[in-house]
Amino acid sequence: MRIFARKNHILINNMAQEDVFKKVVSHCKEYGFVFPSSEIYDGLGAVYDYGQNGVELKNNIKQYWWQSMVLMHENIVGIDSAIFMHPTIWKASGHVDAFNDPLIDNRDSKKRYRADVLIEDQIAKYDEKIEKEIAKAKKRFGDAFDEQKYRETSPRVQEELTKREALHERYSKAMNDMNLEELRQIILDEGIVCPISGTRNWTDVRQFNLMFKTEMGSTADGAFNIYLRPETAQGIFVNYLNVQKTGRMKIPFGIAQIGKAFRNEIVARQFIFRMREFEQMEMQFFIKPGTELDWFAKWKQTRMAWHQNLGFGAENYRFHDHEKLAHYANAATDIEFKLPFGYKEIEGIHSRTNFDLSQHEKFSGKNIKYFDPELGENYTPYVIETSIGVDRMFLSIMCHSYCEEKLENGETRVVLRLPAALAPIKCTVMPLVKKDGLPEKAREIIDELKFHFNCQYDEKDSIGKRYRRQDAIGTPYCVTVDFDTLQDDSVTIRFRDSMEQKRVKISELRGIIEDNVTITSLLKKLK
Ligand code: GAP
Repeated sequence: MRIFARKNHILINNMAQEDVFKKVVSHCKEYGFVFPSSEIYDGLGAVYDYGQNGVELKNNIKQYWWQSMVLMHENIVGIDSAIFMHPTIWKASGHVDAFNDPLIDNRDSKKRYRADVLIEDQIAKYDEKIEKEIAKAKKRFGDAFDEQKYRETSPRVQEELTKREALHERYSKAMNDMNLEELRQIILDEGIVCPISGTRNWTDVRQFNLMFKTEMGSTADGAFNIYLRPETAQGIFVNYLNVQKTGRMKIPFGIAQIGKAFRNEIVARQFIFRMREFEQMEMQFFIKPGTELDWFAKWKQTRMAWHQNLGFGAENYRFHDHEKLAHYANAATDIEFKLPFGYKEIEGIHSRTNFDLSQHEKFSGKNIKYFDPELGENYTPYVIETSIGVDRMFLSIMCHSYCEEKLENGETRVVLRLPAALAPIKCTVMPLVKKDGLPEKAREIIDELKFHFNCQYDEKDSIGKRYRRQDAIGTPYCVTVDFDTLQDDSVTIRFRDSMEQKRVKISELRGIIEDNVTITSLLKKLK
């Protein structure tokens, strides 16, 4: 949630971050952005449906990503591969054997947890303590406060930091070695309790595969197990040579894809942050071996610029470079975004070497090497992957756009300060009253504008209430048709963020609105 203190509005939000998050979740439901799936049957865990406004916002996010990849790069093309894939693909990719979460049960509450999440929460608690200490000192010392120095010299901060670092190191090693006993021991040593029962009565840690399995084939004998894809990336790998040959692509080139992915997440929580059915936007960039670290650095910078271009403030993003790498990767980083529950991964950028393509070559028995016409030789390309979750992106945008403002007249307004290009509705046209030819005039305006951007008609309630409704869904422009309009073809346009109102000619509306609400306007700002 953003907190605003501007000329006409005073800051009212000083809420605990948990409350902020709860507000965003209920706002999503109340205003048709996100609904729990199968709600009338009491819902389905970690599965959500997007409502009438949610689907528009989601589509705009996807458009922004797709166009930034496919339109802005002449060497990147898109595909749309099937969700069902040959089961051996998941053996080759390592998902059958290694796509596991470490699980632990509490014997008293009978609740199941991810052991790694319990430990990560504990690390976050140390971080919170450190930040609290620093915030207190900042208050005490005022302008003279030197944060860096305080971090390095305060015995309390140092003590927490030492504990945090020791835990982090022990945890990273245990995860890297998939040492399940050590994970359990860490939970015991840290005194981590079950949030439900409050006890430390933990079972052993076990591995749990995250892929959903189903059967394909109509007869019992002929049916075989297949998986719902846990990532879209493998659909790109197994098609890379089809695309390269039919598209006459030359390395370096990329293939982009947007699509659903499925993971049987055990600890599915934090709303749409961790879902069982979600959507990914992935791009695999195929390059010459030896050039991967340069391309990795380039994609890190390109992707960060894409995020920051939305205007939520550079200070809300950070890279989290992976210290321990998977055996097939030689560099990896996450782009983290500040959510009400801390900095969280929104996107992963990985230098995956030639691992996936080599594995598919081995398991399929087919030669899928690239012939490099400049070198006159065959090789298996290396790959840089950028992988971002649509739903996490959606959540981060909602959290940072949601504002509560106190107005000069004492009223409070809730406004979604969405980037205009992502807003579900760009312009709502309202007749002052629903008679005397005003509705017809309003519809005439919409009939002209609707070919260029998403418009809505609203005639119910007072103009003030209608403005509030549009603020709450992030509509950047409202246009009011009144009796003067019938005489002089002028209307009042009202701007969401400043609440400023201006009298303009109907013929000017398209020019004022269109340039600010298209995805192109966002793309043009990208460096
Ligand atoms: N192909 C690489 C890959 O799938 P990942 O880090 O497992 O990497 C990439 O996932 C992105 O997909 C994450 O950064 C996140 O945004 C999104 N994601 C992963 N699991 C998710 C889940 N259960 N719910 C929502 N988004 C998820």
